[in-house]
Amino acid sequence: EDEVSPKTLETCRDIVSALPRENGWKAYGDICFYKGFWCYSYLLEGAIFAQDHYKAQPTDIFICSVPKSGTTWLKALTFSIVTRIQFNKSTTPLHTQNPHTCVPVLERYFSRKGIKPGPGSLPLMSTHMPYASLPKSIIDSGCKIVYICREPKDSFVSLGHYASKLRAGLQEPMSLEECFEFFCKGVSDYGPYWDHLLGYWKASLEQPEKILFLKYEDLIKDTPFYVKKIAEFMGYPFSLEEEKEGEIQEIVEFCSFGNMSNLEVSKTGKSADDNIGVDIKTFYRKGKVGDWKNYLTPEMIERLDKITKQKLGDSGLSF
Ligand code: A3P
Repeated sequence: EDEVSPKTLETCRDIVSALPRENGWKAYGDICFYKGFWCYSYLLEGAIFAQDHYKAQPTDIFICSVPKSGTTWLKALTFSIVTRIQFNKSTTPLHTQNPHTCVPVLERYFSRKGIKPGPGSLPLMSTHMPYASLPKSIIDSGCKIVYICREPKDSFVSLGHYASKLRAGLQEPMSLEECFEFFCKGVSDYGPYWDHLLGYWKASLEQPEKILFLKYEDLIKDTPFYVKKIAEFMGYPFSLEEEKEGEIQEIVEFCSFGNMSNLEVSKTGKSADDNIGVDIKTFYRKGKVGDWKNYLTPEMIERLDKITKQKLGDSGLSF
């Protein structure tokens, strides 16, 4: 395999254009199936390119998730933890840049520029790629991964709203029921949803020192505990003095839904690193646990719970 020369961005485009596709979600265009997962075509081009070209450093820290699991929040938290010596709550770049700019998405970066962020940038990177499809160098370099996942019904409701906002004005509307069919079939952003969770879950059991597996619901329940844990895991532990000075609480409060969603950049900004310039406010909706109760019918709940139970089986992961 080593003798095969790395793919050019053009080759990646050719691969993607020949893939099976669905016009599901209708948010960023077609969603394609490649080696076990579904992905929007322009991101998939970047993902395949990154598989061949990304050279991970052992010091890299990857924030990984399936979309709508709390990625924006986790990025704000990890960015604040890692940069707390340089910046405080008044000077943090999070006032002017959204968390997805502060912690760039690998496949998005590669799809647009074909390069990685410049040297001297932070160790933090992110990706939505499933564990089995990560660039080999991420695994081989032994760099750390922080993964966040979320209860499937809440994730689905969040994804349904997100997709409908993205396609607003672009294409015909799509009902939550239609989205639901796709989601259950596994046809969703980086899905099948459950396979994504299981990939990282199993890897985290095998290498707990390399992969920290988090749940959105736990983070909501006790954010300070997890901020401390994440900082330790990433190699940026809080000192006793910092703890006494309330440094953890300051980060928790700054990154809270209430504060983040009310920042000027969140209310009026557009995501510059995105092909279609998404309004940053789209990343903030409610930030609550259990909002599915307001949207799903009893039949939908039963069906989704059943799939989750079947898929997660005796893996030890449950919600
Ligand atoms: P809801 O749509 O349920 O409100 P992602 O960042 O992976 O795209 O996930 C988006 C979900 O996380 C959305 O959920 C969003 O509101 C929520 N979220 C964003 N920022 C948050 C924060 N600071 N704290 C808690 N939840 C947050």
